[in-house]
Amino acid sequence: MSSGAPNAPIPLLAGAAIDGMNAYRALVEEAQRDPEAYWARLAREHLDWQRPFTRTLDATNAPFFKWFDDGLLNASYNCLDRHLANGGAARTALIFEADGGEVTTLSYGELHARVCRVANALRERGVRRGDRVMIYLPMSVEGVVAMQACARIGAPHSVVFGGFSAKSLHERMVNVGACVLITADEQVRGGRHLPLKTIADEALSMDGGENVHTVIVYRRTGGAVPWQAGRDVWLHEIEAAQSAACEPEWVDAEHPLFILYTSGSTGTPKGVQHSTGGYLLWAALTMKWTFDIRASDVFWCTADIGWITGHSYICYGPTAVGATQVIFEGVPTWPDAGRFWQMIGRHKVSIFYTAPTAIRSLIKAADSHPEVHPSRYDLGTLRLLGTVGEPINPDAWRWFAAEVGGGRCPVLDTFWQTETGGHMIAPLPGVTPLVPGSCTLPLPGIEAAIVDESGRDVPNGNGGLLVIKRPWPSMLRTVWGNPARYRAGYFPEELGGTLYLAGDGAIRDPHTGYFTITGRVDDVLNVSGHRMGTAEIESALAAHPEVAEAAVVGRPDATTGEAIVAFVVLKGQRPVDAEAQRVADALRAWVGHEIGPIAKPREIRFGDAMPKTRSGKIVRRLLRSVAKGEAIEQDTSTVENPAVISQFSKAA
Ligand code: WTA
Repeated sequence: MSSGAPNAPIPLLAGAAIDGMNAYRALVEEAQRDPEAYWARLAREHLDWQRPFTRTLDATNAPFFKWFDDGLLNASYNCLDRHLANGGAARTALIFEADGGEVTTLSYGELHARVCRVANALRERGVRRGDRVMIYLPMSVEGVVAMQACARIGAPHSVVFGGFSAKSLHERMVNVGACVLITADEQVRGGRHLPLKTIADEALSMDGGENVHTVIVYRRTGGAVPWQAGRDVWLHEIEAAQSAACEPEWVDAEHPLFILYTSGSTGTPKGVQHSTGGYLLWAALTMKWTFDIRASDVFWCTADIGWITGHSYICYGPTAVGATQVIFEGVPTWPDAGRFWQMIGRHKVSIFYTAPTAIRSLIKAADSHPEVHPSRYDLGTLRLLGTVGEPINPDAWRWFAAEVGGGRCPVLDTFWQTETGGHMIAPLPGVTPLVPGSCTLPLPGIEAAIVDESGRDVPNGNGGLLVIKRPWPSMLRTVWGNPARYRAGYFPEELGGTLYLAGDGAIRDPHTGYFTITGRVDDVLNVSGHRMGTAEIESALAAHPEVAEAAVVGRPDATTGEAIVAFVVLKGQRPVDAEAQRVADALRAWVGHEIGPIAKPREIRFGDAMPKTRSGKIVRRLLRSVAKGEAIEQDTSTVENPAVISQFSKAA
């Protein structure tokens, strides 16, 4: 690794949206004094309402909270139309860079027109307020257009990451009850083509796929695609046939804006349902507060629209505040690992928001290939850096701050989740002295705390469970079609039933009160910033005809944060040597096909049986130690069959 920590602390930003610790404290106090008045003020100031709300929070059916629920608004109107007056239509909204380097720029006026055309086309196809639209698209202008078009007509969208398999797409499509699917002929990443439409057709051919009456296809490459006449239509053809004016559907603030599936501790992903008003408020406000967004900024968030970060900090947040942003189709390491740095220079990016895994892989690349070291590029336009998705280790933080930020740009380690809609605990560039590895303090109005297993506050310096004590506007509203799972999973009775349980462990510094997130406390893994449920991978493995039983755990990994390790018992004999390798490869490919390549186990190990307690429970804590390569010093007396542990200690 190249040079270490910057010598001087990174200076606070002068004149930031929240300007100094006193301004921050004033907001925190305002929120504590009268939370409803605080949130009502912000919602009036930062969103345009077609009909103002008169009720702020309705908690009568807690934990099913409602915010601003008699107010009417439209998300796409707030993200597009309200910026068009006074020359705003000419302002650049999107700077799209394709995998091969071609650049397309869209003004707010042009983006608005495209969104209106697609919205009209959806309406013409019979899509009405409340109907669900599935989106399975690569990173593209079209992805943003599709999401905004759905928002415009009040049709909740559900975006599925382009790396998920046909089965995963199908499972989500059926669960959400989609009537339209928007996809592309192919996806291009790192020079490779992936046949999205073919995968989508496989999903549509499974049970329930017939409920999708329209498939809209964005022509990205012109590659050959399967086609079902009557059902399938080209995006460019329907756009050309429509008007560029479209009256927005005014919806109440609680109307679902989208459903985004994420992993939990059971085998089936959950559809996290977000609202229109509360969600959009926080997406916009955190753009202003955390990122201090200004008219002169060029913002770049490297996430994919298939994840929550791409929803809040590509599709909705930047547009809600009228920002100019870069969106990127490709991957950070292609054609070489200087791609991000080169793009920052080319597009004069001033705010750069990315994932710790990407940073760690670029550190590695720069160490072995000095020509892609950030110092070789012009990064002088940067003024703020941000990270999200997983803990960032202090070494990577310092490198990012020094080598990319030149020691002058605050590094904002933003902690949040699919369920929270936007940043929860994050430094503010004009407020918070930075500490590498800490996401620092909650944003004003977010009542974060750390409790023990019975819901009691723990003193600073003691680790515990991260909770949020009060509802906030951008929180998820429910789990789509499964309110019981929402209540039990996020407001568990063991904690008293009123605390929002994040599922992460955390600890507060006794002196500063800063939070550090220590990682998930449930059976959710974080691999390269992607959330994966161990139960999902286990049930995919168990569905393989040769597999009798499987258990999946995570082990720490220097680049990806965590790596997936699977312990497998076959129905037949335990395979060894070349046979073990063959079966492991087959199982990896199987998981790729069942869920998607991101879920493929890094390692697969075979044993004659699972290590179990006498009551038949798999001893996971032991498997975690085995995965880490630790010597087993734990007490194995409760294990029925300790002999299998040594079998599992060898990777296939
Ligand atoms: C983890 C991504 C440490 C955490 C926005 C959380 C983090 C999960 C951070 C949510 C961070 C996210 N520091 N851990 N700054 N940000 N996480 O739903 O475990 O894809 O619960 O949302 O990522 O992942 P999700």
